[in-house]
Amino acid sequence: MLTRTDCRCCRGERLVEVFSLGEQPYANAYLTEHQIKEPEPKCPLVLMECQDCGQVQLSHVVDPETLYSNYAFMTSSSQGMKSHFSEMMQRSVTQYVPANGLVVEIGSNDGTALASLSGKNVRCLGVDPAENLATVAGQRGVPTLVAFFGQDVANEIVNSHHGPADLIVACNVLAHVDDLDEFCQGVNVLLSNEGALIVEVPYLQCLIDRAEFDTIYHEHLSYFAVRPLVALFERNGLHVQHIERHEVHGGTLRLTVRRHAYEPRNVAEWLANESVPPDWSAFRANVEALRMNLIDWLTKMRDAGKVVWGYGAPAKGTVLLNYCGITTDLLPVVVDSTSTKIGKHVPGTHQPILAPCELLNWQPDAALVLAWNHAAEIRRKEADYVARGGWMVVPALNRNKE
Ligand code: TMP
Ligand code: ZN
Repeated sequence: MLTRTDCRCCRGERLVEVFSLGEQPYANAYLTEHQIKEPEPKCPLVLMECQDCGQVQLSHVVDPETLYSNYAFMTSSSQGMKSHFSEMMQRSVTQYVPANGLVVEIGSNDGTALASLSGKNVRCLGVDPAENLATVAGQRGVPTLVAFFGQDVANEIVNSHHGPADLIVACNVLAHVDDLDEFCQGVNVLLSNEGALIVEVPYLQCLIDRAEFDTIYHEHLSYFAVRPLVALFERNGLHVQHIERHEVHGGTLRLTVRRHAYEPRNVAEWLANESVPPDWSAFRANVEALRMNLIDWLTKMRDAGKVVWGYGAPAKGTVLLNYCGITTDLLPVVVDSTSTKIGKHVPGTHQPILAPCELLNWQPDAALVLAWNHAAEIRRKEADYVARGGWMVVPALNRNKE
C-alpha cells in the first residue's frame, strides 16, 4: 500500500483532504465461508483534492495485483450496460475505423463491449489484467491480452497486430489507473494519427450532487471532472475534442480524445459550466443524512418484525453497508446474479450472497437496491416479487436512473 502525495493529472503537490470514509475492507474482495472467520485487510478511504487543477483522488493506493488478478465484476451482468457499450462501439467504429481496422479496448473485462462488434469487418483486441475475465472473453471470441496497459503493452500490440489502433476504448478504467501519464504515453504509442480514444469515467459532479459516496472505493483512485482531465491529456500531447454526458453508473462523462488538435467541439462550454471546487460541506451533510435515514428505516423495519434484504452485491454495496455499519442483524442477506459472487459473503459486514431466485422463495418484506444504478432493470426483472407485495427501495434520492 502506497500513499500518493502528488496530483495524478497535473503533478502538483497541494493536496487537501476533503472527505474520509475511514478504514474500509476491499469492496470487491468477496469472502468464502472460511475467510469470514479470518481477520480482513482494511485500508483508509480518503479523498484528496488538488488545489491546482481540481483533481479529486484517493490518498492510498492498494497494490493492483491484490485488487485485479481475480476480479469479480462482470460487465455482462447488466443488460443496460451491454446496450450502452454496444451503442458506443457501433457509433465509434462507424466514425473512426476503416475496413479491417484495429479496435483495442483497455479494461475489456469479460469482452462484452468488443463482442458487440462480431460480424463487423474490424479486428478486435482486449487488454485486461484479470485472468479469469480474459478466459471468459476468449470463450466469447474476444482475444484478450492479460496485462496492465502502458507503453510496453502498447508497443507489443503495435508490433504484433500489424500497425496502430484506429480506435481505443477505455470505459470505467481511467479511475483505476495510478500512473495516468504512463497510460497516456501508451495511447500515444498505440493510437493512429487520425484515430480516436473514447474514454468513459464516472463524473465527479454527479457524485457530489447525488451524494454517491458508495462509489468511493479502493479501485477508484480518481474522481474526475473535465478540467483536470483536459489538463492531463494536454500535458501528454493529447486533445479532448468532444464531451458527452450519459446516465450509466450514476452519471458518466464520455470524452473523445485525439492525437491531432482538431477544432474542439464543446469543451470550452463544459469548462465554463463546471462548478469547481465542489461544495464539500454540503456533500458531507448529504451523506450523513443518507446514512442516518437508512439506519433509522432499517431499525424500524427490524423492530416491526419485517425483513429487508439487499439487492445486488456491487462494490458500492460493500461500501454502503460498511460505512453505515449495516450488519446481518439489520440486513441478513444479499442477492446477486453474478456466478462468482453467489455463495460468498460481503466483505466487512458478511451478509451471505444468494442467487436472485431466492427472493421469490423467501419473499422478504423489502429489498434495498444496493445496485441502484440498475434499479429500473432490477424492478423489471423482479416484477413478480413486487406484484406479491415486496418493496423495492433505492437508498437515496435521484439515484434510480439507469
Ligand atoms: P455495478 O453496479 O458495479 O454495475 O454492479 C452491479 C451488480 O448488481 C453486479 O454484481 C450484478 C448485480 N445485478 C444483479 O444481481 N441483477 C441485475 O439485474 C443487475 C442489473 C445487476
Ligand atoms: Zn492537479
